[in-house]
Amino acid sequence: MTGGRLEGKVAIVTGAASGIGRASAERFAAEGARVVIADLDESGAREAAEAIAGDGGDATHVRADVTRADDTYAMVSAAVERYGGLDVLFNNAGLATASVPIEETTESVWDAAMAVNVKGVFLCSRAAAPALRRGGGSIIVTSSIMGIRARPGYSAYAAAKAAVIQLARTLALEMASDGVRVNCLAPVATDTPMLGTFIGDREVDEGRAAFVSSIPLGRLALPADVAEAALFLASDESAFITGTVLPVDGGRGI
Ligand SMILES: NC(=O)c1ccc[n+]([C@@H]2O[C@H](COP(=O)([O-])OP(=O)(O)OC[C@H]3O[C@@H](n4cnc5c(N)ncnc54)[C@H](O)[C@@H]3O)[C@@H](O)[C@H]2O)c1
Repeated sequence: MTGGRLEGKVAIVTGAASGIGRASAERFAAEGARVVIADLDESGAREAAEAIAGDGGDATHVRADVTRADDTYAMVSAAVERYGGLDVLFNNAGLATASVPIEETTESVWDAAMAVNVKGVFLCSRAAAPALRRGGGSIIVTSSIMGIRARPGYSAYAAAKAAVIQLARTLALEMASDGVRVNCLAPVATDTPMLGTFIGDREVDEGRAAFVSSIPLGRLALPADVAEAALFLASDESAFITGTVLPVDGGRGI
């Protein structure tokens, strides 16, 4: 593929076996990026990479748990060894929680939400920083509109998604002198497998309708909506944009 918006770039997308990550990896590859599909789910990651290759794109997969430092270094090495460098790190892997009152929020749920959604972004960004600084790259973080506008019952998830915004803003200042940009996406409820966790014990149609009723544009986000925004932040079209949070939320954050 030539002339794409990510032509010549190498991108790692975490959590790319499913949902927003997979849609973004496919979109990046269609725009000419060479893509490393990183996920805990190795067979899903392999399948996603094969689907991209089947469509004429260039992708490879790596099994990586973003909460494990060794895995994050191996993930970055895989990108640099196979493709010769790194331009884009899309920190997208995340862990949802169900809506429960604070009294019923267990320490293990809290710790898991922080480990994947916050520590994972720290570890992946730390591992990727040297390679990104060499070429002036882009780090993107999938936060959530819940990191800005709260809903009752999601204390661990919302706190984690808020924390990662300030982490990204800090990295934006730290890495600006090397031309590395760092931005967040803040999607509203998105139609992916994760939505079931947010809906929890409620009946599925009722749960989806409850989310939709809170979104001015009147529908859930689709993975493709978020992938388009990620593509913009990955590309040179956003060359002067850093430290920002881009809602992909149908107006929920207004
Ligand atoms: N779906 C929504 O409503 C919604 C809304 C706002 C933000 N988000 C965020 O978007 C991102 C993507 O979520 P999605 O909706 O596509 O969900 P998804 O469940 O479709 O995909 C998440 C992927 O992350 C992977 N993953 C989980 N833990 C991991 C770990 N420790 N290491 C590596 N990979 C891991 C999973 O295997 C899965 O493939 C997450 O950060 C999520 O918090 C989702």
